[in-house]
Amino acid sequence: MAKYIVEQSGPLKGEVQISGAKNAVLPLMAAALLSDEACIIDDVPHLRDVSLMKEILSSLGSKIEEKGENSISICTEDIKTTELEQELVSKMRASILVMGPLLARKGRARIPLPGGCAIGARPIELHLKGFEILGAVVTKGDDYVEAVSGGQGLIGDQIYLDFPSVGATENIMMAAVLAEGTTYIENAAEEPEIVDLANFLNKMGAKIKGAGTDTIRIEGVKQLHGAKHTVIPDRIEAGTFMLAAAITRGAVHLCNVEPDHVKPIIAKLRECGVRIDVGDEDITIRGDLGPQMATDIKTLPYPGFPTDIQSPFMSYLTTVEGSSTVIETVFENRFMHVAQLGKMGASIETAGNKANIKGNSKLRGCNVIATDLRAGAALVLAGLVAEGKTEISEIYHIERGYEKFTEKFAGLGATITKVDD
Ligand code: UD1
Repeated sequence: MAKYIVEQSGPLKGEVQISGAKNAVLPLMAAALLSDEACIIDDVPHLRDVSLMKEILSSLGSKIEEKGENSISICTEDIKTTELEQELVSKMRASILVMGPLLARKGRARIPLPGGCAIGARPIELHLKGFEILGAVVTKGDDYVEAVSGGQGLIGDQIYLDFPSVGATENIMMAAVLAEGTTYIENAAEEPEIVDLANFLNKMGAKIKGAGTDTIRIEGVKQLHGAKHTVIPDRIEAGTFMLAAAITRGAVHLCNVEPDHVKPIIAKLRECGVRIDVGDEDITIRGDLGPQMATDIKTLPYPGFPTDIQSPFMSYLTTVEGSSTVIETVFENRFMHVAQLGKMGASIETAGNKANIKGNSKLRGCNVIATDLRAGAALVLAGLVAEGKTEISEIYHIERGYEKFTEKFAGLGATITKVDD
């Protein structure tokens, strides 16, 4: 299994181009199933999760063509099966996102229960509740779930989500676009990836209003056509590089960023004493201008502080003056990086969903495990400032979500070497 060897680095300097967003492109690819015409998606990052989604779509009958370095065409003239293979689904939780489109277009979807990052129970009952309210009959077996819409197809209705789940909002939106009548999703997730999906679906002929607010209105249409769309920039990748600049006390310019999407990260880094200059589609992070202080963080659904940046931010907080508190409210098991950071010399105490981080830690390189995608990113950041070399195993988690990770760091002056064990 491959590993990263992260060497202690000086302040990172230079420019980095942010890729298209993993969490936006996966639902966009699933949405392409809703039309029998070709959809073209630009700025698609080369990631393990994207390759898996391509395999999933191909297994359902989609023809996928590369249209250039970062552009793909997905054409699904006919859906040849409404069942997913266990092997594919077990590798990626986002495979559940094909359920809404299959149900909308073929009236049936049968999915083995999903895998993905081990961050909490991550149930899917909100997705299923939405399908049921739209008229589908949902059956749960020990290791699969099936939804069938019956002869009359799905019928628009009012769906209140108990929690603004990103995946449930996306899946229900995709199921509802071809339903009879109007669907309202209330307490919907407001993440930028939801807005991107709604924009793409509207280009395909859907009638969606309110994406990005807590109430989304979807007027069903008879069919969708092909469309062309560019994926939004990855706000989590941007946040990771912002923190890489801050933790190494460097100066980094990020291109292809939507500053509005990273507002909470900008606000928190500024509180710590990092200077951040914001342009229209670029950001400059100056971690080299003075002392950096502790702050407190609480993760929340968008526009709150993103849970996906919690662990990378915690690595940074081990290096600032003073003690910080981090509260994780979105996932119930997202402190797995704490034990790994502890091995590197960080002083972090956890109680339930709260972590207290002592600053000014002298981190040292050792062997650590990337327990999930963002925990892996957190360890890379810690490795940049740790004395000696940090050896990170299970980096396939990191490669699920970061495009050209080592190359991008190399462009900023860091040395991260991928080695096969
Ligand atoms: C998406 C992102 C992930 C991010 C998360 C929260 C993708 C591919 N992944 O994941 O990177 O960390 O949003 O911003 O876009 N929940 C339920 N019942 C459900 C669904 C969710 O209880 O039916 C809970 C989950 O267990 C979790 C919380 O809701 O505690 C948030 O999950 P959700 O917003 O659905 O995250 P994902 O869509 O899985």
